[in-house]
Amino acid sequence: MRGLLALAVAGAALGAAATAAEESPAVPQTAAQAVAARQSAYLLSAATFGGMKGAIDRGDDVKSQAFASRALARWARTLPSMFPEGSGVEPSEALPNVWSDRAGFEARAADYAAAAAKLAELAQAGDQPGFAAQWGVVRQTCSACHDVYRKPQPPRG
Ligand code: HEC
Repeated sequence: MRGLLALAVAGAALGAAATAAEESPAVPQTAAQAVAARQSAYLLSAATFGGMKGAIDRGDDVKSQAFASRALARWARTLPSMFPEGSGVEPSEALPNVWSDRAGFEARAADYAAAAAKLAELAQAGDQPGFAAQWGVVRQTCSACHDVYRKPQPPRG
């Protein structure tokens, strides 16, 4: 009786393991899902980043930007993983060189991540002029990547 129960338990465990394996495929998302995820994250990061400029212009205590700038730094670090191989599909505005010149793309992302990490440190330290200057440095890292790896944008009117 005990033996049968043990077998049944072992069988159930094996079944559960098999199901778990089926539920974690090697490719966790479709190309279209990767595009949608990174585009929404980009829009959120742009809103966060723009909000910081508002705080600078108002003369707010930059410590109020510590959370937002830490969040930006975290996003910057994870950015390359949002561009898996094969995810250059409509409606993505990423240029094919994101994948053909991966080292260059990752270097731009690393510049951004380093600049954003410094921005977060300055916010934490309450360094008002330092934060304002570093905001401009971070913005340059956005453009440095967009100029090369993103489809040119129509001029804003
Ligand atoms: C390492 C490269 C890189 C860096 C750094 C970078 N971007 Fe981008 N960004 C891209 C690429 C590539 C796209 C196009 C993504 C797509 O459509 O698949 C993009 C798209 C965007 C979009 C459009 C999203 C949409 O839905 O249309 C915004 C907004 C944006 N970036 C803002 C920023 C801001 C703000 C920064 C800096 C704070 C930044 N990006 C830094 C590469 C970068």
